[in-house]
Formats: sequence, C-alpha cells, structure tokens
Amino acid sequence: MSDILTERSGPILRVELNRPEKKNAMTAAMYTSLAEIFNDAGKDESIRAVLWHGAGDSFSAGNDIVDFLKNPPGPGESPQARLMDAFIRFEKPIVVAVQGTAIGGGTTMLTHCDFVYAGESAKFQVPFINLGLVPEFGSSFSVPARIGHLRAAELILLAEPFTAARAAELGLVTRVVPDRDVLTTATATAQKLAAKPSGALRACKRLIKQASIGQVREAVRIENQEFAERVRSAEAKEAFSAFLERRPPNFAKTATSVAAE
Ligand code: COA
Repeated sequence: MSDILTERSGPILRVELNRPEKKNAMTAAMYTSLAEIFNDAGKDESIRAVLWHGAGDSFSAGNDIVDFLKNPPGPGESPQARLMDAFIRFEKPIVVAVQGTAIGGGTTMLTHCDFVYAGESAKFQVPFINLGLVPEFGSSFSVPARIGHLRAAELILLAEPFTAARAAELGLVTRVVPDRDVLTTATATAQKLAAKPSGALRACKRLIKQASIGQVREAVRIENQEFAERVRSAEAKEAFSAFLERRPPNFAKTATSVAAE
C-alpha cells in the first residue's frame, strides 16, 4: 500500500497521506510523490480542486526524523524543495482537512493551502527550534506576514503546541469544526469550488498569490540553505537522537561542537 493515496471524484482529486502508524510523517519518497501529484494535477484540465487529508488520527507529524538522519536535505534540489516548488506553482484551489496532529511540515505545508478546516481537537506546532532547525516551506516569510512579528516569534521561537481555536484566531486555519465533520466540510468546499468557472478560479488564485509569490520563493531559497546547514548540525543530531531514544535532548553537550561547526 502506498504512503500517499489519490482518488478522482469527478473534478476533485482527493489526496490522502497514508502512513498512519507513523502519524503520516513525511519521507523523502512521500515529498517526491506529492510534488508529482500536484504537478500532474496542475496540468490535468479535468481536475478543478484538490482535497487533501491524512489517514488515521493525525494530519502529519512533519518530516520523518529517521529520514533527516539518513537523508538530510541539501541546499538545492531535494524532495522537500520539489514539493515547495510544486505548491508555489499550483494554481488550483487546495482544500485541506486537518485532524489530530499537524506538526512541523504538517503545519507549514498548510500555508500553501487555500481552505484549511481543522477538527476541534487538532494540535499544531512549529517545533523547528526544538530540533535545532529553522522553519521551511516559505513559512519564515508567510507566517510573520500573516500574523505579525510578535505572534510569529511566539510560534517559531518558543515553539509550543497550539490548539485549533488559537490557529483560527491567528488566521492560520479557515474554520474549526467538530472532529467528525472535518472531512465532510472540506469535501463540500471542494465541491463548491469545482462548480466555479475553472479559468476564472485559476486566475483568481494566481492574483491572490501574485503579491507574495516572489517573497515566498526567496524565503524558500534562503531557508533551504540555512536548513541544510542546521539539519547536519550537532544540535539537530542531538535532538533527532533524543526523539528516537524517547528522552529529552541535552543541548548543553552540543555547545562546543556547535562552536566548532
Ligand atoms: N518522524 C519519524 N517518526 C515519527 C515522527 C516523525 N516526525 N512522528 C511520529 N513518529 C513515529 C514514532 O517514532 C512512533 O514510531 P514507533 O511506533 O515505531 O515507535 C510512531 O510514529 C507513533 O508516534 P508516537 O510518538 O509513539 O505517538 P504519540 O501519540 O505519543 O506522539 C507525536 C505523536 C506526533 C506528538 C510525536 O510522535 C512527535 O512529537 N513526533 C515528532 C514530531 C516532530 O517533531 N516533527 C517535526 C519534524 S520537522
């Protein structure tokens, strides 16, 4: 069974992250498949909207941490960068249903979606700092641009989990709905969008993105350089090992090696 499933329902392409036993954590292969899915959907005239969700009790626990150790992304071409590029180019609406955990990439990938419905028990977090990393997917630009510096500093520098209600207050989700309704609400919106005139729909999305697209691209380029360095750092290695060994990280012992980086 594939880690990403797709299904056509008339003009709607449903995309499901399907690695529930790992909370839909994203492997390199999953980023690559998702990039191909979005690139192909962009070219397929018969697809008018994408409905995106995760299998099991989580939307996504972000990048697979084992993969970060085995296969850290570099500053240029990478599976992650391919997906970022696919999102930036995509001109059709993306409607997402978020249930349970949306951590790391599970939160930052949402910044490329047009409708984000969150179940009331959904939990968000951008924990990059805790992992010795920096934000990605252009979120170092898009999050402060949307919510302001002080709120962004709280999310990115303190990196504590936040609720669906707080995400809605910040404008990071469209609406909070009862958990059991999240996929049906997102599906209904995708259906409404699919009934719109598709040429105008694409033109509207292109125009909405137009003012920020250059800045998102530039943020992605700079983030990827910084990320490539951080993901190989002693700090990150300690954080990843701590997660896999189910213990708290000890950044005191990374101090000398960080200085020597
Ligand atoms: N990378 C790799 N594996 C992950 C993962 C990730 N990002 N997130 C969860 N998993 C795995 C766990 O290792 C565990 O695997 P195992 O059953 O083989 O031991 C499985 O998914 C279930 O996760 P578990 O931690 O047991 O579930 P939980 O309900 O106690 O906690 C989370 C769920 C998502 C809160 C917790 O797994 C977590 O914090 N994950 C890391 C999230 C993160 O920091 N992501 C950012 C990466 S940039």
